[in-house]
Amino acid sequence: MSAEGPKPPSEAELAEMDRDQLVKLGGALDGVEIVEYPTPWPVEGTRAEKRAERLVAFWFGLSALAGIGFVVSLIWWPWKYEAPDNESGHFWYSLYTPMLGITLGLAILGLGIGVILYTKKFVPAEVAVQQRSDNDGAGSAEVDRQTILAHLADAGNRSTIARRSLIKRSAIAGAGALGLAAAALPVASFIKNPWKDSESRDSLWHTGWQPNFPGEKVYMRRATGKPVEVEHGKETEISLVKAEDLDAGAMETVFPFRESERNDAEALAKALTRVDNPVMLIRLRPTDAAKVVKRAGQEDFNFGDYYAYTKICSHVGCPTSLYEQRTNRILCPCHQSQFDALHYAKPIFGPATRPLAQLPITVDEEGYLIARGDFIEAIGPAFWERKS
Ligand code: FES
Repeated sequence: MSAEGPKPPSEAELAEMDRDQLVKLGGALDGVEIVEYPTPWPVEGTRAEKRAERLVAFWFGLSALAGIGFVVSLIWWPWKYEAPDNESGHFWYSLYTPMLGITLGLAILGLGIGVILYTKKFVPAEVAVQQRSDNDGAGSAEVDRQTILAHLADAGNRSTIARRSLIKRSAIAGAGALGLAAAALPVASFIKNPWKDSESRDSLWHTGWQPNFPGEKVYMRRATGKPVEVEHGKETEISLVKAEDLDAGAMETVFPFRESERNDAEALAKALTRVDNPVMLIRLRPTDAAKVVKRAGQEDFNFGDYYAYTKICSHVGCPTSLYEQRTNRILCPCHQSQFDALHYAKPIFGPATRPLAQLPITVDEEGYLIARGDFIEAIGPAFWERKS
């Protein structure tokens, strides 16, 4: 309440006052002089007014549509990898992430622009001069609170929101769709049930190293990047790793390859791009190999000096792409976790708490390095159902 100005009314007088009177009283008590208080649209129903109303409704409506578009894209848009060969499939798949960004961005932008335009075009822009007072540090009196509320309600009333159902409906739709989008984010992962087929190679428990049938050879393949012709298009050269290929102390990134996919460009591309497929094949120096401590139950997972660990960090899943030969440490550049390659890749520094999963490997009769099966534990970061 201001220290100067008219005498505050009694409680009984206050209770009898209507909103207009309270607005005026509030100004007077606070020493506010309203210089201008124009009604934004003094003549109702003009074309300009309708145009302004439609413009605001357009942005709210756009926000609503984009919010619904986000929810639909998040849940139903084709999000699984399709090789470039499958032109239509790859095209739609490659739009998944942009669609999420565009729709959510438009939903927020539309709502924001709608609110700004509504404020500019329909809320009266009064020009007032106010003498400020903090009531000698005592805070606002009841009369000040009531008059302020009256002011706010009056501004809302003068903005004519009550009779603008188009704006109200579109604003509610825009805010509602955005709220729906926010709610869909955590819920969508439950709708796409990752446990529908937990034995499948596509579940979180397995990787592309899982054989299609018992005894299938899954070779280790380099990604050389050299294009070669295959039956249904072009594919990169298939270069398999033999035991003598790596020098002592070397590391190579390898991907699964099976003979049944030799002429299948799509399957070959998938094997190279699937996120949980990359494996670090490390050949330890003989002096280091003599110091290796193996993990219980995984004593035969290596082949001689060769050890194969997933490249997916057990912290939050970045690629642990750095191998330091001198210290035998595997480094993850994301948050600097370090794993000891001589100690079943257990973490020795940084935020990771679990060892990198080890792939069981051997050599076939022709000398090619092959996987003896899939990883025996889920790779990458923790998730609710995982026990290790
Ligand atoms: S993802 Fe590797 S340290 Fe965080």
